[in-house]
Amino acid sequence: MLLRDQPEKMFQIVTMLLLEMQLCVVSALFTVEVPQQLYVAEYGNNVTMECRFPVNGSLNPGLLSVVWEQKRQGHLESRDVYALHNGKAHLSSQHRDYMGRAALLHSELKSGRAILQITSVKITDAGSYLCLIEYQGADYKYITLEVKASYKTINTEKRKWNEDKFAFVCQSEGFPLAEVFWQNEKNLNLSVSVNTTYTLTADGLYNVSSILTTNQNMNENYSCVFWNKERNENTSAYIYSLALMSTQYGRQKPLILFIVATCVIVLILPSALIILQKRKSFKNRCAKKEESYLK
Ligand SMILES: *[C@@H]1O[C@H](CO)[C@@H](O)[C@H](O)[C@H]1NC(C)=O
Ligand SMILES: *[C@@H]1O[C@H](CO)[C@@H](O)[C@H](O)[C@H]1NC(C)=O
Ligand SMILES: *[C@@H]1O[C@H](CO)[C@@H](O)[C@H](O)[C@H]1NC(C)=O
Ligand SMILES: *[C@@H]1O[C@H](CO)[C@@H](O)[C@H](O)[C@H]1NC(C)=O
Ligand SMILES: *[C@@H]1O[C@H](CO)[C@@H](O)[C@H](O)[C@H]1NC(C)=O
Ligand SMILES: *[C@@H]1O[C@H](CO)[C@@H](O)[C@H](O)[C@H]1NC(C)=O
Ligand SMILES: *[C@@H]1O[C@H](CO)[C@@H](O)[C@H](O)[C@H]1NC(C)=O
Repeated sequence: MLLRDQPEKMFQIVTMLLLEMQLCVVSALFTVEVPQQLYVAEYGNNVTMECRFPVNGSLNPGLLSVVWEQKRQGHLESRDVYALHNGKAHLSSQHRDYMGRAALLHSELKSGRAILQITSVKITDAGSYLCLIEYQGADYKYITLEVKASYKTINTEKRKWNEDKFAFVCQSEGFPLAEVFWQNEKNLNLSVSVNTTYTLTADGLYNVSSILTTNQNMNENYSCVFWNKERNENTSAYIYSLALMSTQYGRQKPLILFIVATCVIVLILPSALIILQKRKSFKNRCAKKEESYLK
């Protein structure tokens, strides 16, 4: 595997050197521009990052080379994301993490846009991206990609801890690491009796579990809040001590309103119809009575 990869790496290094030599000569004529320097992508979504280069008239694909490389924070080696050499995709050296996920939007090249698309973004995709373009001259720029994952779904559970204690559990996955704090109805800070732990999933997400143990009044409702500090984002879930149900805080109110509205309609509509019906028959009867009186 390593031996097979070696010639590719050599080839890359040579190309880079050649490009750098050319840079000194023609850099003044050919410049790569980035319309956006920082991209923030949500885990699992797609992201497109763009570098622009000058195309005079119609594009000659045979003269175009585009290289996208990624460098992660704390890693020395950069990873090949996508390479186009003289108009042809050159994917044998592509890092396996990007296989089938990274592509250059070829239709945009003719307008001087080298757009890299990465699908189902992973946590490990975060880092600094180099886009190096050669087209009768060469230049490169760096773009930063940040990846975030919201603690979207909070799983809740209530279970017996031991003889006289109950445990409330909140568990969710996201990135970066969230702080968890608990509140009861009176908004008291309950973090003292809480044990929050986390593991890393294979996808690089934090799997955070928080357990609150209590022997207090079982009629108390609790909520856990996942505070994603870097995103300045809070997600919370309620645990109702009587009825075991978990609801997302933000979506709860509209849902309840919807249910109430539906109930109102379901209850009022038939009674309104019945009243209308009764009125009609009453009127009919009156009319009939009038008729009979007239007779
Ligand atoms: C990401 O891109 C792929 C392929 O272009 C597409 O099938 C998918 O629906 C996109 N996903 C999102 C979340 O936009
Ligand atoms: C663009 O191409 C035309 C001829 O096709 C040439 O005259 C002109 O100088 C070129 N401009 C640049 C900026 O390269
Ligand atoms: C309240 O919660 C914070 C963390 O959110 C904790 O540092 C602090 O000690 C708690 N205070 C009390 C009185 O429990
Ligand atoms: C918190 O939970 C972990 C794992 O369940 C356990 O190893 C640890 O001892 C607990 N810490 C406290 C203070 O209860
Ligand atoms: C997260 O951790 C919990 C236990 O704390 C486990 O049941 C669950 O399967 C884990 N989820 C993932 C995606 O690793
Ligand atoms: C807990 O919440 C439910 C639903 O909002 C409510 O009916 C119940 O009265 C609450 N319990 C306490 C002790 O506040
Ligand atoms: C999230 O909760 C923390 C702690 O209560 C608070 O300091 C922060 O302002 C909250 N952020 C948002 C966006 O609500």
